[in-house]
Amino acid sequence: MQMYDLINKKKNRGALSKEEIEFIVKGYTSGEIPDYQMSAFLMAVCLNGMNYEETLNLTVAMASSGDVLDLSAIHGTKVDKHSTGGVGDKTSLVLSPMVAALGVPVAKMSGRGLGHTGGTIDKLESFPGFSTSLTGGKFISNVNRIKLAIAGQTANLAPADKKIYALRDVTATVDNISLIASSIMSKKLASGSDVIVLDVKTGSGAFMKSYEDSLALAGEMVRIGTMAGKTTYAVITDMNQPLGRAVGNNLEVIEAINTLDGRGPSDLLEVSLTLASYMLIGAGRAESMAEARQLLEGTIKDKSALNKLAEFVSAQGGDSSPVYDTGLFKKADIIEDVPSLSDGYVSYIHTDEIGMVSLILGGGRQTKDSIIDLSVGIQIHKKLGDAVKKGEPIATLHANDSGKLKEARQRLYNAYLISNEKPAQHPIIYGVVTDKDVLA
Ligand code: URA
Repeated sequence: MQMYDLINKKKNRGALSKEEIEFIVKGYTSGEIPDYQMSAFLMAVCLNGMNYEETLNLTVAMASSGDVLDLSAIHGTKVDKHSTGGVGDKTSLVLSPMVAALGVPVAKMSGRGLGHTGGTIDKLESFPGFSTSLTGGKFISNVNRIKLAIAGQTANLAPADKKIYALRDVTATVDNISLIASSIMSKKLASGSDVIVLDVKTGSGAFMKSYEDSLALAGEMVRIGTMAGKTTYAVITDMNQPLGRAVGNNLEVIEAINTLDGRGPSDLLEVSLTLASYMLIGAGRAESMAEARQLLEGTIKDKSALNKLAEFVSAQGGDSSPVYDTGLFKKADIIEDVPSLSDGYVSYIHTDEIGMVSLILGGGRQTKDSIIDLSVGIQIHKKLGDAVKKGEPIATLHANDSGKLKEARQRLYNAYLISNEKPAQHPIIYGVVTDKDVLA
């Protein structure tokens, strides 16, 4: 078999067999297939797609490209959550401590930023000393002891995805249903949780811009998860504007902490409570959404979720004092308001562009080896439907480099459409896909 022929086959819209997909995954993971051939293949998949059989075979080949974690030593039903990627999406930092505070084991595998979207692992590194490279033994013992551990993708957990993910990030080959579904589900199948809750983002800041594509992605992932014997839910949530008001690593961690302290933005709280409710229901800790919500809200009121976050940060080697004093997080040197150029309503936000503003400021990766600047980002003041007056700040940029600031300011202006039309509001939650139903 030759990689050249397989690229050509996909370029000509052919369907690849299980053996052909295994050849590609094995060859790329071992280094026999070079980046340039894999890039060409990924682009052909983006342009011509894959059918369900191909997606499933790709998922299984990537999941079995390394170790499959055995989490049977963890007591209870283990839950995990994964997002398809968004801007300002810090729900994992909010919901994981809430669910763990209720005694449900959260054994979570997270990723780094991808394209214009942020990643939980990068955000957690805002806590000085925090480590996401846990050995299997430490991961299991932390979950048993404090009910929460979040690990990055260790070198040998779905290594094929790790390599392909980094390549997709810099070759504009992220936004494809099969590539996203196989990337997420390969990690979930290799990392051994019993319940998987997927947050499928839809809208201008998501990889899937239309509801139809988001629904198709949700359906594929639930089908794969169910086939693998996991209880899988996919909640479709809005990404037509950043979630909450903070974009950028330290800024997002501060907003997540404020949310656990009862002072968070309502959209972030709503998405976090909905996803966490499915985690509780999947684990058998609550019987209904109403019961789950009441339990979760209780963890904010009695501060048990905030305390759980601090306990978790310490358990993974981090300094947890910023949980109780967010002023300790490093701030950017330049903090500058961006005033509106006209009167009107915020009628559209190119949310992916807001993600790019953060990336340009240094909050994301431009190349595989970029080092992230944790203190930069954007504080959003005006969201969809808000009235705005000329000169009023629509956002505040946090930067450490005045050269980057100029480009960031221009792209931020391009991201906002201000007009006389007050736009229709989007729902925060669009629906839920389970193995039996689509609940809209
Ligand atoms: N998250 C992942 O892990 N993979 C993707 O492809 C997109 C989001």
